[in-house]
Amino acid sequence: MNKNSKIGIFDSGVGGVTVLREILKVLPNEEFIYYSDSKNNPYGDKDKKELIKISDEIVQMLFRRDCKAVVIACNTASAIATSKLREKYPNKIFIAIEPAYKVVHDQNPQDVTLVMATKGTIESEKFNILYNKYNNNRTYLLSCVGLADIIEDGNKEKIEKYLEDNLKEYKGKVKNVVLGCTHYPLIKNEISKHLGNVRFFDGSYSLALHLKDILNKQGLLREEKLNNGHIEFIDSSNSKIKEERFYKILLSKEG
Ligand code: DGL
Repeated sequence: MNKNSKIGIFDSGVGGVTVLREILKVLPNEEFIYYSDSKNNPYGDKDKKELIKISDEIVQMLFRRDCKAVVIACNTASAIATSKLREKYPNKIFIAIEPAYKVVHDQNPQDVTLVMATKGTIESEKFNILYNKYNNNRTYLLSCVGLADIIEDGNKEKIEKYLEDNLKEYKGKVKNVVLGCTHYPLIKNEISKHLGNVRFFDGSYSLALHLKDILNKQGLLREEKLNNGHIEFIDSSNSKIKEERFYKILLSKEG
């Protein structure tokens, strides 16, 4: 493994592309392996042990492929598996996304906040530590069971219906919205339609800066662009549709 090794990144499907897009802005020279685990989607309501096992198998594969760092581009896997992975592979670099609740605290703590995330994230110990540390006492926590799943499928009518049913009670009440699942930035416009004029917060850009900083400190930043900053896409169910969707989102401004 050296500075020309790839960076591995994974999520339960294409949602982590919202993280990769931010990483590419800060690290345009790097090469990536993006692993979309659509076979095991959704992660949001998986049993803890199972999700740790799934995440462990993915990172082992990425390390076999000589990745110099692994980005956990899924808030749920990050909340549940990161500490176990760090314990098991103490010499490896893991960068894990988390809901941007601290950013709300730093920028707009006076306003009412809605945190949207999977059940797994909202109920996790890791998120609860973050929440209790920065709690502004004006926060609603919303477990969006099943939402990542319908975003993954790209079913517009179902998304619309879901948001209609689940967001109406927050309309006009919240100003800050934490998108605590990497799939949700893909439906920012739709969420805005239901909540009105809100500010969105997600952890992708700060994750990208953190990744750059860590690679730099370890002397692992790639200095020049080789192979045009290639991105290798792997989907665990070999779905061509996912692959097309991934590249389409990557090149677009969707969300
Ligand atoms: N995109 C993931 C997250 O950030 C997981 C969604 C799911 O598979 O439930 O939580």
